[in-house]
Amino acid sequence: MFADKVVLVTGGGAGMGKSAAQRFAEEGGRVAVVDLNLQAAEAVVEWIRAAGGTAIAIRADIASQADNDRMVAETLAQFGKLDAAFLNAAYLGPVLDFFETDAETFDKITNINLRGCFFGMQAAARAMKPGGSVVVNASTAAIAANQYNAVYTATKHGVLGLVRAAAEPFGARGLRINCICPGYIRTPMNGFPDSVAPVAPQSLETPAFCGIGEPQHIAELALFLASTRSSFLTGAAYLADGGLMANIPSIRI
Ligand SMILES: NC(=O)c1ccc[n+]([C@@H]2O[C@H](COP(=O)([O-])OP(=O)(O)OC[C@H]3O[C@@H](n4cnc5c(N)ncnc54)[C@H](O)[C@@H]3O)[C@@H](O)[C@H]2O)c1
Repeated sequence: MFADKVVLVTGGGAGMGKSAAQRFAEEGGRVAVVDLNLQAAEAVVEWIRAAGGTAIAIRADIASQADNDRMVAETLAQFGKLDAAFLNAAYLGPVLDFFETDAETFDKITNINLRGCFFGMQAAARAMKPGGSVVVNASTAAIAANQYNAVYTATKHGVLGLVRAAAEPFGARGLRINCICPGYIRTPMNGFPDSVAPVAPQSLETPAFCGIGEPQHIAELALFLASTRSSFLTGAAYLADGGLMANIPSIRI
């Protein structure tokens, strides 16, 4: 799917970003694995190279506009172009009572998840030629709230707004932008050990209804949205939650 393509993945050192970086590489893409944690990004690059793929590791803090610009500049310097970006990195923050959430926590979560995503969109789009695609990892928290993650919820609602607002200016440049709204996924963000390697996509299993998804379930959707197979899709959000948002829990009176 990605032969001759260059793809950048933020938060590529762990979880869904790692799985996506591995799958982009398996499909022939040259991958820039971007992460705050350089060691984690380098380990993913090592895995990709050992599997015969091509990748580089870049340390960047997406909360910084300069780092967003630099990660794209380093990708262009190494690979000569950028065809797709999976803007996936984010910070969940501590579980906090609504009234105990302080300004420092608010600023940190907002700077990474919302501001970081905005400057990532700008930086990626400026480097892309017509046909390019940006995929943002949002959340079901873009649609519904959790009182213990109020700021995270607000940033994910905001990210969906950014994707919708970006669709027209992206379209004017021949680019597309979409976001994914994952449900509950088995990643380090939720305290699970990280996955090691993807499985063959045709053998991905169906989790229980409203159960836990694997990072690769999201990676496969990210690949589709980043590819020309989804050329008519833009400005939209795609639920990938195993049925969570479709379900009103049964109430027995
Ligand atoms: N895990 C879930 O259940 C879930 C559900 C819905 C949405 N999401 C979203 O999916 C995305 C990926 O989540 P995950 O569970 O794979 O996360 P994770 O915490 O397992 O991995 C995130 C990676 O991003 C990196 N990172 C964190 N802050 C960064 C920064 N400022 N700059 C660069 N890299 C940074 C981390 O070092 C880590 O390698 C996030 O946007 C998250 O909000 C997660």
